[in-house]
Amino acid sequence: MHPYQNPDCPVEERVSDLLSRMTTAEKVAQTLQFTIGKDTTPNNIGADHPFDPRVGSILSFYGGVTERNAYQKLAIEGTRLGIPIIWGADVIHGWQTIFPAAIAQASSFDPELTRQISRISAAEAWYGGVDWTFSPMVEVCHDPRWERVVEGYGEDPAVAGKFAAAAVQGYQQPTPEHPETIAACLKHYVGYSASEAGHDYAYTDISQRALHEWYLPPFEAGVRAGAQTVMSSFNDLNGTPAVVHHGMMTGILRNSWNFRGFVVSDWESVKQLEAQGFSSNPEHQAVSSITAGNDMDMVDGIYRHLEAAVESGRLEMRYLNLAVERILRVKFELGLFEHPYTPERDPAAVWLRREYLDFARRSAADTMVLLKNEDDLLPLLPERYRRIALIGPAADNSDALLGSWLALAAAGRKPVRTETYRDVIADYFPEAEIRCAPGCAYRSSPGDEATIAEAAALAARSDVVILAVGEPGDLTGENKSRADLRLPGAQEQLVAAVAASGRPVVMLTGSGRPIIYSGTAERVQSILHVWQGGIMAARAAFDLLTGAATPSARLPMTFPRAVGQVPIYYNRHRRARPESGQYSDLAETPYYEFGHGLSYTTFTYSELRLERRDGRIIIEFTLANTGKRSGSEVVIWFLSDPEAALTQPAKRLISFQKISLAPGTSQTVRLALKPEQDLSYTDETGQRVFEPGSFIISTGNRSIEFQA
Ligand code: NOJ
Repeated sequence: MHPYQNPDCPVEERVSDLLSRMTTAEKVAQTLQFTIGKDTTPNNIGADHPFDPRVGSILSFYGGVTERNAYQKLAIEGTRLGIPIIWGADVIHGWQTIFPAAIAQASSFDPELTRQISRISAAEAWYGGVDWTFSPMVEVCHDPRWERVVEGYGEDPAVAGKFAAAAVQGYQQPTPEHPETIAACLKHYVGYSASEAGHDYAYTDISQRALHEWYLPPFEAGVRAGAQTVMSSFNDLNGTPAVVHHGMMTGILRNSWNFRGFVVSDWESVKQLEAQGFSSNPEHQAVSSITAGNDMDMVDGIYRHLEAAVESGRLEMRYLNLAVERILRVKFELGLFEHPYTPERDPAAVWLRREYLDFARRSAADTMVLLKNEDDLLPLLPERYRRIALIGPAADNSDALLGSWLALAAAGRKPVRTETYRDVIADYFPEAEIRCAPGCAYRSSPGDEATIAEAAALAARSDVVILAVGEPGDLTGENKSRADLRLPGAQEQLVAAVAASGRPVVMLTGSGRPIIYSGTAERVQSILHVWQGGIMAARAAFDLLTGAATPSARLPMTFPRAVGQVPIYYNRHRRARPESGQYSDLAETPYYEFGHGLSYTTFTYSELRLERRDGRIIIEFTLANTGKRSGSEVVIWFLSDPEAALTQPAKRLISFQKISLAPGTSQTVRLALKPEQDLSYTDETGQRVFEPGSFIISTGNRSIEFQA
């Protein structure tokens, strides 16, 4: 037995032993990632690749565990060194049990929820033959036209950082119940979410300041949480495409943060260096990318040219060695050499387990945001409503609930039929007469006057209308940018017609991004923004509508009034003339601000106080549930630094907590600050700077000013 084959040897020894036995060709093979056959995932339709058992990684393989193991056997037994393949897939918000999309998870303001979702996703995916997920996406974004905001945790870097860490830990942490783990991948590194004008794959121009203030912190949080891999992004960052960006991948990621895993490129992004105007020479593309710190090449095969580059001396062997070491290290750490095969288990025992579905339902309810609730229309008490109209293109559509990035669905295999609102409504209103009408299709415009009129007539004959609208599932996710953020197609026309009936209307809006509610929200009494809530979303929504659950989610991203306000985000920097500079034709405030979200109970904040203890600043207040129901309050703490050498946003989030209270009870909520750390800011080189002076901390609608 060689040292690399001995599980008792330290990982580093195994890595260097194996590396010392490898030929250049074997090393290059480790840096390559391919599909088997032609991938048919939207946006990923690539060339047909013959299978090479020496290859480092396979992605997006949905052929089942038996076939996966057969291919793995060719790698283990049919090659000289028997190096296992690492199998990657986009397990973005679940594998079989589909959970709420990431933007929805962020709305919970409860990273524990994401940790648990990631844990279950890892356990299910592992039994599907997946060793590595391309998740979490941790990019903050200020532009909801960019369709990939659905995959991220919103606009705030501290919130995104907490969720990034929770997702990484969830995927990667073994527990006694779930020893199965998969490697996480922080993506897309870095700045892709700043794509110009909200286009996908576009140029990005980001100052060093903005990189350090907004875009880099969630990645740092994910690296500190132990992420084993990172995916470099498609964008050209300030003139240097991310896949060849030495400063980002080596300077910051490795040298500053001490990241020890490997970096994989995004789909064909090494080859796309030609389209970006960097180089059309494949060898130059490959050499530039690997020397910058990108270790594995996704799908385009450009790294095949590394072999000739090494042989001719145009690439020093040490760069190839470094990349291979990093890839092998992750394979050893994952235990792939000891357990290269996926056990074949009865799917019923490992997928869609009752407790997973129950958690999917609870977590979906925790992510849906109650945006409006005029005259306390919600919760709807079943005994009060005899005739209910369920109207809208989303009323009976499961694709919109499941949302984008369904790995299995992409392969033409949906896990199980996902219940729609129409499927479940009768369970909640057993005595009522329920009538349904789509009113209009999701996207066709103008709408069909007759079907809209039919829906309006149905509304007029009902005691309450539940109006299910939003973006269809296929209008969100990669390569689905929108220039218009209103409800698509004729849906606004439908809302107007239904509202004209004069009946109370509850709107359920599904979307993968902030949408524009101006002119629509005013017409209805209540709005529950359900995002893409996953496999149990319909029941979760009705749990909330009927009061079986109480809403507690908040918006992690600003909802603009009009596209003209974009980019829009809460932590803006101040302007020279605070009273001037507004638009002459539109308010400058958002329609719904970051952190907005209602409950069925009421919370009061009182007795805000500050004390200094043991070098810390302790800020406390009393939170009381003064309503009639149990509920959870998201407490958000903002910092304002009115004067600084490097000017600061008017306010920025420094902490948040989610607190559950029974009616009539209260609790002391505490924030402990270490001044030099928590009151400091990041400058344009990434250094923390603490400037003593006066600061303001605010929470709820109260604030406290102090010197530190
Ligand atoms: C392209 C996407 O940008 C990335 O997020 C995804 O993980 C890869 N394709 C693999 O499917």
